[in-house]
Amino acid sequence: MRDSLLIKAAFSEATERPPVWMMRQAGRFMKEYWDIKNKYSFLEMCKTPEIAADVTMLPVDLLGIDGAILFSDILVTGEAMGGDLSFNAGVGPLFANPVRTQADIDALQTDVLDKLQYVGDAIKVIQQRLAGRIPLIGFAGAPFTVMSYLVEGGSSKDFKRTKLMLHNEPEMAHQLLAKIARVTADYLNMQIAAGVNAVQIFDSWAQALAWDDYKEFSHRYIAEIISKLNRKDIPVISFCKGSSVFAPLMAEAKPDVVSIDWNVDLLDIKKRLPAGIAVQGNLDPHILYADKKVIKERIYRLFDRMKGENGFIFNLGHGIMPDIPFDNVKYAVEVIKEYAP
Ligand code: CP3
Repeated sequence: MRDSLLIKAAFSEATERPPVWMMRQAGRFMKEYWDIKNKYSFLEMCKTPEIAADVTMLPVDLLGIDGAILFSDILVTGEAMGGDLSFNAGVGPLFANPVRTQADIDALQTDVLDKLQYVGDAIKVIQQRLAGRIPLIGFAGAPFTVMSYLVEGGSSKDFKRTKLMLHNEPEMAHQLLAKIARVTADYLNMQIAAGVNAVQIFDSWAQALAWDDYKEFSHRYIAEIISKLNRKDIPVISFCKGSSVFAPLMAEAKPDVVSIDWNVDLLDIKKRLPAGIAVQGNLDPHILYADKKVIKERIYRLFDRMKGENGFIFNLGHGIMPDIPFDNVKYAVEVIKEYAP
């Protein structure tokens, strides 16, 4: 795997072409996903290794991407710590017992790897199915993003309760973040031991934070997690929405790759990062709704811009939306693999 396009690009080594994978590449935009989802609940899918492997393999077999990503969710760490998690159609994730008081934080467990063993088991099944064809990316949620779901009790537009805890009760917030960070580092090391070839940390909602708050309540814990990873030959990808602003700080946490949203010119931001840090991104996922002519033009524009740069992994600036036409996603992968400047 060390010689695959994805791992070489992640370590900023030369590749014959940039590798491609897409966040949320295994999901609701695929008919084949629904064929499975209609039979099981989302958490059943995550917790049954054979099913998680089936879903992980869908984009490998149907799209021909250069990296598989484990089928799971960032909120399984919160569940293992004691969160009562469910996923409901049209509502998204819910924690029935939100974490809002000191007692709630004290009750959260941190010795929870046994409860996440199903993820290690899924990784082993997936690696058997992949049989060395392409690398498998493991992942976890960043402490701030996972905290936001635990505190709000679900998805939120404005993160009002979470930010109030940061601002009014920073000590409590730090205790909660430190607990999640400890679990996350253990969890990612467990995924590495089980056989993933790269890991990505998702801090999807970092963009809600002011610079100082990002530094104090998010960046610090991501840096702590990364410093604890057994990362020999395992590149670490740091993703957040807001990376067009936070990328220089994200790089200070010493990942191998920073995944960039679509608000910024990818080459400009790469040049602002220290040498040896690769970038991943950064097509606006909405482009995949557009006409094929536009999809091709925008991919060529990005690739022409990044021409000759080592350390470039194609991805979207955020995940594929559930109603993006499958055919467009497949077309984008073809265009990327055939790109010839
Ligand atoms: O990328 C992949 O294909 C791998 C699997 C994956 C899922 N969730 C599957 C999923 C990954 C990497 C995630 C990460 C995740 N989960 C994030 C970070 C990534 C991002 O988009 O920023 C976040 C914020 C979550 C939390 C979450 N899980 C939400 C908000 C929701 C519901 C709304 C939504 O966007 O789907 C989920 C459920 C979820 N996770 C689904 C899938 C395929 C949909 C479940 C269903 O079929 O109803």
